Amino acid sequence: MAPQVRIMAVDSFTGKLAVVTGGGSGIGRELARQLAAQGCSVAACDLNPDTVAVTAATAWAAAPPGVKVTGHACDVSDEPQVQRFRDELLEQHASDHVDLVLSNAGIGGGESFITGRREVWERTFAIDWWGVYYCARTFLPLLIASGGGVLVNTSSVNGFWASLGPGVPQTAYSTAKFAVRGFSEALIEDLRVHAPHVRVAVVMPGHVGTDIVANSFRARGLPEAEQMSDAQVEELIPRDVQAGLIRAGLLGEGASADELRQMLVRANAGFRDKAPVSAAEAATIILDGCDPEPGGSSSVRTPR
Ligand SMILES: NC(=O)c1ccc[n+]([C@@H]2O[C@H](COP(=O)([O-])OP(=O)(O)OC[C@H]3O[C@@H](n4cnc5c(N)ncnc54)[C@H](O)[C@@H]3O)[C@@H](O)[C@H]2O)c1
Repeated sequence: MAPQVRIMAVDSFTGKLAVVTGGGSGIGRELARQLAAQGCSVAACDLNPDTVAVTAATAWAAAPPGVKVTGHACDVSDEPQVQRFRDELLEQHASDHVDLVLSNAGIGGGESFITGRREVWERTFAIDWWGVYYCARTFLPLLIASGGGVLVNTSSVNGFWASLGPGVPQTAYSTAKFAVRGFSEALIEDLRVHAPHVRVAVVMPGHVGTDIVANSFRARGLPEAEQMSDAQVEELIPRDVQAGLIRAGLLGEGASADELRQMLVRANAGFRDKAPVSAAEAATIILDGCDPEPGGSSSVRTPR
């Protein structure tokens, strides 16, 4: 039997207040834009205050009257910052509840547990898991207060498969994304028992065209690829990876640090431009899956 897909009526976001984390780029930016265009007020946050300010300004400018879109600086891996984001948005939107929470912020990184740096592993895990956890801790009470809220946690295809393929480990990201999926699925029953008017959905995207490669470097405190030191580039593309790239014909023997920098730029552009699904398409699929009807929960997959 074909899976049942329940589509949210276009106007069901009207007059609501949504929280979007990681709203400065990619899927989060498109979620904010599409929600605002459908009459939903949005409080978006990001590690990068400049990009989320652009999201807020452009989404608000295109929104119907009565909608308010605000941008906030917040690192979701830091609980006091998440709580400050909550306090700011409740004040700026003059609200005592929220209707929708899209816990979307995330980065890639922490590929090898054996050879990678521990700080990178833990930074990736902190954003991708603890960020989702702190947002649930902070915002679930406000969803419960809404009388019909939806929590939408973003996992990944790496919440199904714990690598990027044979020979390509992805340990921190996969561990975090499995945790997000497990937590979200466990909340289904908890909410049914203790807050049946609130629902949870987990998003399991495949490859979506965004700048996540470059943004992930930035979230780890690295500069733009062109400004990275030789040591930083060497760390991102270690010798064993370089050897694999040479074997695959993607890198010449004895590549210079500049050639490696260019390769990082191309890796981000290729990830963004060759994806089968755009950020806007992914956001539409996610919003379609935020079923507002009480009594069930959704798993949302974007096509690979
Ligand atoms: N793009 C894909 O192919 C893909 C696949 C599977 C899952 N995902 C997930 O989708 C979500 C959105 O990713 P995207 O592709 O739109 O990436 P993106 O980089 O375009 O957007 C993510 C945003 O999150 C922000 N961010 C990073 N760390 C943050 C932090 N600590 N606090 C607040 N904001 C932070 C970034 O600055 C960025 O603006 C992520 O959770 C990602 O893991 C993406």
